[in-house]
Formats: sequence, C-alpha cells, structure tokens
Amino acid sequence: MSLPRRKITLVVGARPNFMKVAALVEAMVSDTRWQPYLVHTGQHYDAELSEVFFDQLKLPRPDVNLGVGSGSHASQTAHIMLRFETVLEEHKPDLVVVVGDVNSTLACSLVAAKLCIPVAHIEAGLRSFDRTMPEEINRMLTDALAEYLFASEPAAVNNLRREGIPEQRVFLVGNVMIDTLKRFLLLARKSRIHEQLRLSVDGKSVPCPYAVLTLHRHSNVDQRERLQGLMDAICQISQQIPMVFPVHPRTRKQLSDFGLDDLLAKKGSRIMPLPPLAYLDFVALMEKATFVMTDSGGIQEETTVLDVPCLTVRENTERPITVSEGTNEIVGTSPEKILLAAAKILRGESKRAQAPALWDGFAARRIVHILEEQYS
Ligand code: UD1
Repeated sequence: MSLPRRKITLVVGARPNFMKVAALVEAMVSDTRWQPYLVHTGQHYDAELSEVFFDQLKLPRPDVNLGVGSGSHASQTAHIMLRFETVLEEHKPDLVVVVGDVNSTLACSLVAAKLCIPVAHIEAGLRSFDRTMPEEINRMLTDALAEYLFASEPAAVNNLRREGIPEQRVFLVGNVMIDTLKRFLLLARKSRIHEQLRLSVDGKSVPCPYAVLTLHRHSNVDQRERLQGLMDAICQISQQIPMVFPVHPRTRKQLSDFGLDDLLAKKGSRIMPLPPLAYLDFVALMEKATFVMTDSGGIQEETTVLDVPCLTVRENTERPITVSEGTNEIVGTSPEKILLAAAKILRGESKRAQAPALWDGFAARRIVHILEEQYS
C-alpha cells in the first residue's frame, strides 16, 4: 500500500522568487512523496516580471493566483494574508515553503504559522543589518516564524545562531538560485540578445565590450537626488562602455516622475534602456559582460558563479560570501566611488571568483532530502 502524499504549498510572488521555486519544483516532480501546490500572490503581475519566467523556467502554472498587485507595504502584505488564509484553510497543506525576502514571503509565513502549518524558509539567515530595507524586516520575521531554515552560506547560519534559532532547525544547503542558473546556462547561451542589441559585431561569438546595469532598490530610486547622482555617474561611465539597462517598472516610474528621463538619452552617453528582460536573455547578457552594476541581491550571487565582476550600488550586502569569495564589490552609492570602481575594472583590475561551497546545482535536492527525513 502506498503512503499518502504530503501536500506542500510553494509560494511565489515577485520576480526573484521564480528562479528559486523552479529549482524546488524540479527536485520534487520526480518524487511521488510530495504533492506540490503552487500559489502566486500576484505581487508582480506584469508579463515581463512574471509570466515569461513561468515559460522559460518550465514552472507549472500556479494552482491559484491571489492577484494582489501593488500597494503600500501594509496594504500589499495585508491583502496577501487575507487571500492566502482562505487558500490554506481549503487546501490544508502539511508544509508551506517560502523563498527569499519579499513581502509575499513574510505575509504567507505569518498566515501559515498562525494556522499551525510548518513553514520552510529557503534563503534563511541573510542579514544586511539595515532595518531601513523592507527586505531585512521580511527576512528577520520570516526566520522567526519558520520551522525549517535553509541557508545558502555560512554567515547566514551564524546570524540565525546569534538570534537564538535552535540549531536543529537550521540547514546549510547551498543556493537554489544557482541550481537554476546551472540548469539553464547552456540554453541561455543560445540567446540571440547580443545580436538583437547589436552588441555582436558581424555575428561574431565574442561581443563588443559592454556593462549591464540594474537598479530598483527603493533606497536608490525613490529619492530624486540619489537617483540623479547615480544616473549622472552611470552616464559618465557609459561614455567609456555601453551600459545595457533593463529598467524595472518602479525605476521607470521614478525617472519619469522626477523628470529624469532625459538622463537615459543624454548626448555623448551610451545607456541602452530596455524593458525588463526574460531570464535566459538576462543570463546571456550577464555572462559576457565586462562588469555588472546592480543593487539586486540575486545578481550578486549569479555574477559570482559566472565569474563576472559585480559592483553593488549599496552600502551593505546580506550576501557576504559574494564579496569574500566572489566577484562582488560593495561600492556604496556615492557617484565618486562608483566612478572609481568602474574605472578600475576598465583598467583590467577586477576581482576573480571562487564558487562558494555547495553552490553546485544541487541545493534543492538537499532540501527535498532533508524534508523527507523530517517527514518520514
Ligand atoms: C520587489 C521586492 C524586492 C525585489 C524586487 C524584484 C518587496 C518588499 N520588494 O520589489 O525585494 O528585489 O521585487 O523585482 O517585496 N510594478 C509594476 N509591475 C509589476 C510589479 C510592480 O509596474 O508587475 C511597479 C508598481 O508601480 C509597484 C512598484 O513596481 O508599485 C513596486 O513593486 P513591488 O512589488 O511593491 O516592489 P518591487 O520594487 O518590485
């Protein structure tokens, strides 16, 4: 007689969640002991921030979409909670799995914990020690609620220990985002994005030099002066190397509201503004870039594994291993420092990476194995 399958609810909400959950779903599909149920909160709803990732990452369509959309943090979190509670009451899973640090992560953890459904948090323990970041609040509270905490790097385990989380709940498993990167890298190399952006001369396999830029952190884009300073520095850098810039909707809106659109097309500069890109095109661009400049969390990790220099336009990182072992450099947000750091790379002085331990493409399998042991 076969045992009943365990019902596991996986939550996705915003763009960086899709790559992480794709790795878990992949590790679970071949295992008949689990019955995954995918909930999309609808925090991200634009096709280019959501739909395209389902297609490219071979993620099954969500079993339910809560359709919450945008709003203030409180309103978005509250709407997710109300709708997710109904889903859990109907579906009654054995476990809820949340990933990362977005509002959907915290909202769903809180609902599950109150219904006494265990929560597994993937990417637990990361800390920037900067409570002005909404993501830091989400991380701390999610970790306080979770029953199983899966960490991607040793510093995260230490943070959890310091916060008094019992040792037996914490597991160092590696990085599920890197699982997905490794799984799709060969496919990404077939992308035609370099030709489409005319970064490839006469169809040659080695494109001309370019850098990739992403910017969306509220601390960088929600204040006019900060955004203008960053854009001025980026314009200057782009006089030396084209900057391919897929613009997040939040940043697009802020540039327009602040009347800074002109900076994207300033005379003499070579910024290439684009809509948000699909996963495979973006990975292809990162891999061949001279450097990447970003304020994203996940991109700090992906560039480390791709061994591409990364300049992080923030004052801190919750992912210190990308600095100690990877290509990441925390350059801060002052235009002078950013210009100096870019100039250094353009002189050929850039960091090289060593892939962190357990960032080997098998993190999701380790997680599934541990969960099987816990539920056997
Ligand atoms: C969210 C996450 C952030 C993550 C980022 C990746 C939180 C607190 N922040 O930030 O950690 O790095 O996703 O993209 O959860 N918008 C659209 N279309 C969409 C979604 C958003 O136009 O599909 C616009 C709306 O104007 C919205 C704004 O972007 O108000 C911000 O969206 P939101 O989901 O609140 O946060 P992100 O900045 O995307």
